[in-house]
Amino acid sequence: MLEKIDWESAINVRRSVRSFEMREVDKDSMDKLKIFMADMEASFTHNIKIRFFKANSDKKLYSTFNSPPDDMAFISNTDIVSISKVGFIGELAILYATNLGISTCWYGHYSLEELEKIMPHLGENNTSDNPKWGYGKGVVEGERAICISPLGYWKKDGLRLADRVTGSFMSYKRKEISELLQGSTESLTPELLYALDLSRKAPSGANSQHWRFKVSSDLKTISISMPVGYKHIKWEHPDVDIGICACHFWLGLLLKGIQSKVSVSEEEGRAVWQFEI
Ligand SMILES: Cc1cc2nc3c(=O)[nH]c(=O)nc-3n(C[C@H](O)[C@H](O)[C@H](O)COP(=O)(O)O)c2cc1C
Repeated sequence: MLEKIDWESAINVRRSVRSFEMREVDKDSMDKLKIFMADMEASFTHNIKIRFFKANSDKKLYSTFNSPPDDMAFISNTDIVSISKVGFIGELAILYATNLGISTCWYGHYSLEELEKIMPHLGENNTSDNPKWGYGKGVVEGERAICISPLGYWKKDGLRLADRVTGSFMSYKRKEISELLQGSTESLTPELLYALDLSRKAPSGANSQHWRFKVSSDLKTISISMPVGYKHIKWEHPDVDIGICACHFWLGLLLKGIQSKVSVSEEEGRAVWQFEI
């Protein structure tokens, strides 16, 4: 069973934060987050590890902002299904942290050299031709930090200009369900529409929102994946984002009291999440 917190509000208020106060997360919140992640049982098997680590307060790790003292890394193998599961499991950590008042930012283009210095994890895969940003392009040997996230408190005066102009602190532009769904929304139940609404609010690399939804005619099987052959020029691992979106959908169903059988597989070179209700 998933702990009863206000998951819907966490989804609605979460924003990528890129400006932090240089202080540690309070111990009580940090302990709660660690315990939640250690005890959390997913409804599918996985091998994702979350490592909490301390960073130096400079721009080396994230390049565009100073690292707050506390941070976390999502570690797994690099095949398509594993990285997509990172999205699902990692998003539960991000949303749980949000609920505790901790700000976060999914981050794929961290400095690998700096991460290895402050959180050694590459072992024998630490070679001289490591990529500069992120863990690599395709499938590589061994486990990697697929993404990392700062954990801290938003420093408001550091708001980015783009966010100030929009009057809120967000790049919160999202596509409508009708643009993402194969078929019409008319036949869908209010519960499915609710879960799809939470899904479309998921964060994605460069806010590309490349997920697409398919609902079977009997409304019993829902799948979430990106279009076959989808590529983004800036973000090399879009299947991570599909896992994040699937996590929001799963939470939406749960919040409406609907249990689902969840599976994810690789089909035509991308991850396909399937929910049977
Ligand atoms: C898997 C993933 C990787 C991301 N990597 C980066 C990154 O390397 N650098 C960055 O500034 N933002 C990164 N982001 C944040 C996105 O730009 C952000 O989620 C998106 O613009 C939507 O904004 P929001 O999170 O405030 O809703 C990443 C997001 C996701 C989901």
